[in-house]
Amino acid sequence: MAGFSLRRRFTTPDAANFGAAVRGRDGVHLRRGAGYEWCVRHRGEGIQYSIRELPGIFRRDDIAELAPRQHLVIDSGARHHGQSLARLLGDRGVAHWEYHVDGGESCKSAREFERLCHDILVQARRRDLVVAVGGGAVCDLVRCVAAWLWKGLPLAIVPTTATAYVDAGIGVKGALNRDDAKNCVGVYYPPLLVGLDLALIEGCSRELLCAGLMEILKMALIEGGRFWAAWERLSGEVLATSFQGPGAVDLTRLAITAMLKHLQPNLREHELRRPVDLGHLLVRLLEMEAQLLHGMAVGIDLALMAEYAAVTGQLAEEDRDRIHATIRALGAPIWHELITAERVADAVEATSRQRGGTANLPVPAGIGRVEVHEHVDGRAMREAVLRLRARGLGAGHLTDSQHAGRQG
Ligand SMILES: NC(=O)c1ccc[n+]([C@@H]2O[C@H](COP(=O)([O-])OP(=O)(O)OC[C@H]3O[C@@H](n4cnc5c(N)ncnc54)[C@H](O)[C@@H]3O)[C@@H](O)[C@H]2O)c1
Repeated sequence: MAGFSLRRRFTTPDAANFGAAVRGRDGVHLRRGAGYEWCVRHRGEGIQYSIRELPGIFRRDDIAELAPRQHLVIDSGARHHGQSLARLLGDRGVAHWEYHVDGGESCKSAREFERLCHDILVQARRRDLVVAVGGGAVCDLVRCVAAWLWKGLPLAIVPTTATAYVDAGIGVKGALNRDDAKNCVGVYYPPLLVGLDLALIEGCSRELLCAGLMEILKMALIEGGRFWAAWERLSGEVLATSFQGPGAVDLTRLAITAMLKHLQPNLREHELRRPVDLGHLLVRLLEMEAQLLHGMAVGIDLALMAEYAAVTGQLAEEDRDRIHATIRALGAPIWHELITAERVADAVEATSRQRGGTANLPVPAGIGRVEVHEHVDGRAMREAVLRLRARGLGAGHLTDSQHAGRQG
């Protein structure tokens, strides 16, 4: 059987060796070469996997070498990428099957999960590889499917959106939605390999690119320093070039390194006070009701958290203004008309249940400083909603999906 190359400094468990003991130092180990490779290792959790930059991914053997039988789950928005991978596997003599999923939030359903499990089981043998080629929603769905089939089929991920590239694809979480409850069913399941190629993102709409940038902004705000300076210098160029210039390489490397630094010690979220949850209070409201892209919801949420922190006196007004200005500079909204103080209070209540009984709300206390609050000051939040509304209506910007949401 073709195995994962062991010549590299980082040895990721290969498909044949799936479930082998994890050895070596815990942490995120970065190998800088022509492309970056991050190896995430946590012996206590039995988790080790690699995230590797693979420019020209469909002309090289990294995915083909993972297993001789592969099941490709392809996002409808990235069909041509899936077909390129299928062609490559065919050329390399790798047996493969294709499954197609309508990408986007609606695919994270029990129905789609069941359909995919059924279809893959028709062909699959234990230890076959499942490969997700798609955006964050498809990555979430496929991770759940791979984790469940025979209690775990090896998984590889090829992200095709900016959000999947810097966030959804590179951790260990997979999730489905139920009714109007977002991400309430799911798994912690590491891939063998995440193969990164920025070229796959190029065809994304401006809004989808911008949504990915909002996830990067979240990490830049948490980290501050060099990362924030790079964000302010490069984010406009990265959007203008659809992530195809050297600025995108720099900014995505900073984002991935920062994200993994936060994820690695807490892969299964035993600790519920997580700075990386910054900007995720309103995602259910803004994604599932307002139908915004995940990253756009994060951007609005970041704006509200900055406003709230300014009202409570934790964040200087100057820093709040910098955060709002950088979101607006990319043409992203800082406000949505569905937001009311009552809905924010409902979100705090729902989030508290998800975070173990207290709000555990990450709040920016400066550029590069986030504090996690157990409780939310209701009066200050009400004031923040009013102030942000005034500011947001002043901006008057609406995204495509906000227009669609209004018309719907
Ligand atoms: N598991 C995690 O840790 C984690 C982290 C962040 C986000 N997420 C999840 O990720 C999802 C958001 O991901 P997203 O922003 O990638 O959006 P998405 O997955 O919802 O995809 C949005 C649209 O982009 C299309 N698409 C995919 N690749 C494309 C390409 N190359 N060109 C053009 N269109 C393409 C899809 O078909 C879909 O229509 C949410 O469900 C969110 O909850 C998960």
